[in-house]
Amino acid sequence: MQELFGKLADGTRIHRWSLENGGTRMKVLSYGGIVQSLEVPDRQGRYANVTLGFTRIEDYVDASPYFGALIGRYGNRIGKGAFTLDGSAYQLSVDDGENSLHGGEAGFDTVVWDVEPFERGTDVGLHLSYTSPDGEMGYPGTLTAKVTYTLTADGDWRIDYEATTDKPTVVNLTHHAYWNLAGEGSGTIGDHELAIPAAHFTPTDPGLIPTGELAPVAGTPFDFREPKRIGRDLRAGHPQLLAAKGYDHNWVLDKGITAEPQEVAVLRDPSSGRTLRIASTEPGLQFYSGNFLDGTLVGPAGRAYRQGDALCLETQHYPDSPNHENFPSTVLRPGQTYRSTTVHSFPT
Ligand code: GLA
Repeated sequence: MQELFGKLADGTRIHRWSLENGGTRMKVLSYGGIVQSLEVPDRQGRYANVTLGFTRIEDYVDASPYFGALIGRYGNRIGKGAFTLDGSAYQLSVDDGENSLHGGEAGFDTVVWDVEPFERGTDVGLHLSYTSPDGEMGYPGTLTAKVTYTLTADGDWRIDYEATTDKPTVVNLTHHAYWNLAGEGSGTIGDHELAIPAAHFTPTDPGLIPTGELAPVAGTPFDFREPKRIGRDLRAGHPQLLAAKGYDHNWVLDKGITAEPQEVAVLRDPSSGRTLRIASTEPGLQFYSGNFLDGTLVGPAGRAYRQGDALCLETQHYPDSPNHENFPSTVLRPGQTYRSTTVHSFPT
C-alpha cells in the first residue's frame, strides 16, 4: 500500500509504503529510504514498533540523527573528509567537526529515492534507486545506487545494496535503524543482551576516526563474543568509551567479507522475549549505543528519546578505509558492481 506521507519545503511529495509478511510489518518512506517503523511480535504475540522514528516529514528533515535511513555514499567517518585515489586528492563535504560523516551534509539519508514495489514468489518488497551526480558531496563519479528491501515469508527483512560508477570512487553503504526491542519510547537498551562474533575492534582518536590499529577485545568492555548485557561495561571508564560517550566503534568481524550473509550480531531483550539476529556479507559492524540522543526528540509513542534509548548495528566496511591501506578496500571502479547484503531476522 502506498500513501502520501508529506511534502518537502520545495513541494516534493514524499510517499510511504506499508509492507507485511511472515509476521513482520514495516513502513518505508521515499525520503532517505527511511524505515519509519518496523513491528514484530513479542513472546505473547503482542506487536511493538522496535525502531526509533518520527510521525512527520518535517521532523526527519529538521532534526533526524539518521533514524531508520539509508546511509551513503560512505557509512561512518572519513578523516578530515579527505582522501587520495589514483593520485588525485578529493575533499568531501565535512559535517562532523573536521570530518565527513555518513556521506556529508546531504547524504543518501536526505535524498528522495525512486521506489518500486514488487512481489516475487512468497517475498514482498521495494526496489529503491538513486543516482548521485559526479561530484555530489565531493565524491568522484556518477554513482548509481540500487537498494532492495525484501520481507520474506519468515518475516526476515533483507537489504541488498548494489552500486556502479563511471569513475573510480569509494563507496560504503549501510542502514541506520535504531533498535529498541522492547518498543520505541520504552526506555533504555541497557538490559538488552548483545553478541558480536569479533575478536578485534578498531580503536579511534578523539574525533572517532580509527587509528588504524586492530585491537583485541579480550579483557576489555568491547568483548561481546559471549552474549552480554549492554549496560554491564558501559560505565567501565575505558578511555575508548569515555571518548565516544559509550560504544560507537567498528567491530572487525571474525568472518571477514563473505559471499553469503553470515551472523554478525544477535540482540535479545529479555523483557519482551524479542530477538534480532543480523547476518551480513560485510566485514565490519558499527555498534553505536545511542550516545547522542539527548532528550530533545519525541517519537511516535509521544516519549522523548534519551541517551541509550536505542542502539544501532550498522553493517559496513571499516570507517575511514580510504585512508588505511590495511583495511579492506572500499574502492569501486567503472565496470565493477558493489554488492552488499544484510538480513535481519526476528526469531521468537
Ligand atoms: C553513527 C556514528 C555515530 C553517530 C550516529 C548518529 O553511528 O558512528 O557517531 O553519528 O551515527 O548520531
